Amino acid sequence: MKRILVINGPNLNLLGTREKTVYGNLTLNEINSKLQLVADQHAVKLDFFQSNFEGELIEKLHSAEGVYQGIILNPAAFSHYSYGIADAITAITVPVVEVHISNIYKREQFRHKSVVAKTAVGQISGLGDYSYIAALLYFIDLD
Ligand code: DQA
Repeated sequence: MKRILVINGPNLNLLGTREKTVYGNLTLNEINSKLQLVADQHAVKLDFFQSNFEGELIEKLHSAEGVYQGIILNPAAFSHYSYGIADAITAITVPVVEVHISNIYKREQFRHKSVVAKTAVGQISGLGDYSYIAALLYFIDLD
């Protein structure tokens, strides 16, 4: 059975209450439940991880090697400056799709650059919870 890991970075545990006009009303659990519904329809096993700590996110990426066929990663603010997370993605062979709830290119200048993007297979930005679902559908179809 295909296994996909969903990783969320800092402050995404506050979805549902945090800046609702930017990030919407859904909580992280609600987004994960929507992903789970799609995964169940396609017999894919999902695991979920969220951390506010860069090192924990890096260690989770390391531990994915040989276990998962794909990673859906919202690095949140770390996207914009964490070379540690970028290097961790380069160090593993599991393909990573970078996702963002908001369209980072429509927001403040500092969000326009993702240092993670170059290491990812691709990036999906601005589709709300559908950013995650689109990434999951990509991995479902990937051989
Ligand atoms: C985010 C965008 C980032 O700039 C921000 O720091 C986040 C969330 C998004 O999903 O839109 O925390 O990754």
